[in-house]
Amino acid sequence: MKSFEINKIAGGILGTLLFLQVVYLASNAIFSHPVPKPMEPASNGPASSSGASKPASAAAAPAEELAAYLGKASVTKGEADVKVCQMCHNLAKGGGVILGPPLYGVVGRARAAVPGFQYSDAMKAKGGTWTPQDIFIFIKDPQAFVPGTKMTFSGEPDAQKRADIVAYLDTLSDHPVPLPKPAP
Ligand code: HEC
Repeated sequence: MKSFEINKIAGGILGTLLFLQVVYLASNAIFSHPVPKPMEPASNGPASSSGASKPASAAAAPAEELAAYLGKASVTKGEADVKVCQMCHNLAKGGGVILGPPLYGVVGRARAAVPGFQYSDAMKAKGGTWTPQDIFIFIKDPQAFVPGTKMTFSGEPDAQKRADIVAYLDTLSDHPVPLPKPAP
């Protein structure tokens, strides 16, 4: 009788533990635990206080080089691939604004330089010049290169296509900019 009661108590405890174990496993499955982000700029501490945290995180992704794709770049293919841009961009010399600024002569042009086009604050603040390499990277993921840009183009992942596009855009100019030497 006594041992029967002990068995009952022990069984009750084991049952409870088993139940808790199941709850624990289920909660683990339901609530995903945040994975620590090793590249968080905040973890760099004061070392990156001079605004260095941004270029550092941008440099974390391996830089894609236009030069590596220029050897095979085709202006003819670029002319075909640029159709998607022409929804929003006028490519003709003296062309006006569509949804975006005209792109004749854009290679080597200062950023946000078309008078009368309402650029985003992000684009105005970016500064600098549209080098061939910059355009190559920008059209891969516009929001990544200029966070807050109003160019709502999702991006062209194919690097060869982007090289073709840059090579073609460079021909749309009175003074084409020399493209980087194709890398072997
Ligand atoms: C859905 C419309 C849309 C499409 C498609 C689009 N763009 Fe744009 N683009 C814009 C807008 C709007 C801006 C102005 C961005 C800003 O002010 O932030 C812009 C800006 C730019 C600029 C900067 C121009 C300057 O004067 O500073 C370049 C370069 C550019 N686009 C290239 C391209 C290329 C190349 C393609 C095709 C691969 C393309 N865009 C596709 C809308 C578009």
